[in-house]
Order: sequence, then structure tokens, then C-alpha cells
Amino acid sequence: MAAHVAAASMGSRTVLLLSVFASCLALAYAAGNFYQEFHIAWGGSRAKILDNGGLLTLSLDRASGSGFQSENCYLFGKIDMQLKLVPGNSAGTVTAYYLSSQGSVHDEIDFEFLGNLSGEPYILHTNIFTQGKGNREQQFYLWFDPTTNFHTYSFLWNAQTIIFSVDGTPIREFMNLESIGVPFPNKQAMRIYSSIWNADDWATRGGRVKTDWTKAPFTASFRSFNANACIWSAGKSSCAASPSQTKAWLTQTLDSSSRYKLRWVQKKYMVYNYCTDVSRFPQGPPLECTAATTS
Ligand SMILES: *[C@@H]1O[C@H](CO)[C@@H](O)[C@H](O)[C@H]1NC(C)=O
Repeated sequence: MAAHVAAASMGSRTVLLLSVFASCLALAYAAGNFYQEFHIAWGGSRAKILDNGGLLTLSLDRASGSGFQSENCYLFGKIDMQLKLVPGNSAGTVTAYYLSSQGSVHDEIDFEFLGNLSGEPYILHTNIFTQGKGNREQQFYLWFDPTTNFHTYSFLWNAQTIIFSVDGTPIREFMNLESIGVPFPNKQAMRIYSSIWNADDWATRGGRVKTDWTKAPFTASFRSFNANACIWSAGKSSCAASPSQTKAWLTQTLDSSSRYKLRWVQKKYMVYNYCTDVSRFPQGPPLECTAATTS
């Protein structure tokens, strides 16, 4: 498992390196228009913006995958996107949807969807990098088929916590534990990235199931992007100008009913948790693992 997980992190890094370096713009548009909020970063015509900017599709074929990225950079936000994943035999493919800053000590918050054979479950792989270091993988099965309909995948990212949610149900939390020496991503603005690529060296059953290219192109779809977020540009946050009481998400944390749901998901659907992987952390789990379980 450890080797699989290390490779998974590398997959995400590789894609990041492919993305174009550019300074942060500050564009304020009506929510959800892909033409205005994003641009195709790589893969040429494999990525398409359709329906007047309401829908985006990414495809993978034998020659290349594809990807898009946001125009804006964000420093905190509640960011929702609906995804419909590659249907049928998607084994070997990975669709990633993540936030990332740039540079060697970058921060990153990842959703990665590991494809599977027809009728077999996808794995939702999550990770968090702070100051260039990841190795915080948690993986889940989903409680629905993510290929037949759109479902909402959300990041809540504020100064207190990071919460990953699926259709409004929290599946993972990474609390700010800077007070006990765990770095938290709160200084570097991040862009939104998404991509689809071939990772049949590790993605499906640890690389034992390969991509079936006779089924290509493999296509994932995106819609209903919504960011309640602080846009970062030229060293300034868009949130500094407006009153914070209008932004409940800036101070939102898990209430007791959400915490109950999170525990339910983690109990029933978690496939892998770095915190309990004794083979990787023989001297004991990272600090945030023991702190988080006592809260
Ligand atoms: C694919 O399906 C198999 C069999 O049900 C399962 O063991 C595996 O976790 C699934 N997901 C991936 C990404 O391999």
C-alpha cells in the first residue's frame, strides 16, 4: 500500500509541473462560467468548454490527457464543483481536482479519482501538502456510482480547518494544528486545477489492471463551479475589503451533526488512512493524527 500511495502523490506532482506558471489575476465574474473562470492548460482539443461555458469536459487518449486551471488564485474559500467521472471501464485512469500553490514549498489539497473496471468501485484518494510535504493520504469508496450522475465535491478552506465534502457530507478534516507544530496552508494562494491522465502503473489495484485503450477516449465532465472565496491578487485579499460577517464559511468548522456524519463515512467507506499505516510510520503516526482523534 505504501508504494501505491507514494506513486499516487507523484502522479499529482507530475501534473502540477505540467501546468503553466502565471501570476494571479483577479477576475470577478458571475459564478460558474468556465470560459471566464478557467482556461485549458494542456491537452488541446481533448479539453472542451461547452454549453456557453456551463460545462467542461476533459478527455484522455493514448497520446495525452488534458487539464484546466483557474484564472484566479484563492487564499481561503468554500469551493464547489460537480463532477461526473469516466463511465464504464475507467481502469488505469486518474481524474484529479485540486488546489495548489506553486514552488518547492507549495501547499496542495487534492481530490483524485482512481478509475476501475466496469461495475467495480472508484477510489476517491485525498491528500494534503503543506510547505512541500504530502504523505497524508486518505482513500474512500463512494456510497454511489460517481459515473452516472454529477455529484458535488467541495473544499472548505479557512484559517481554522480544511474540510473535504461529497454532496455536502464531510469525509475528511485537516484542522489547523500550528500550535503543536503541524504546518497549515494559510500563507500561499492556490489555484484550482483539474486533469485526467493515464496512471496505469499504480492507479487500479496497485497497477495490476491496465488501461484498455480500445475504450478511449476517456471523458470526465465538470459543471456548477461555485467559489465563495477570497481572491488573492497583487498581495491583497478580496476579503479584506468586504465585511467578514457576510462570509460565514470563513469561520465555519464542523458542528456536532457534521462530525457525526464524518465519523460515519470514515467508519464505513474509508479504504486507507496514512494515520494508521504502521509500516510507513513505525515510530508512531504524524502529530496531526493523534491530535485529531482526540478532538
Ligand atoms: C477496484 O475494484 C476492486 C474490486 O472490487 C477493488 O478492490 C479496488 O479497491 C477498486 N478500486 C481501485 C482504484 O483499484
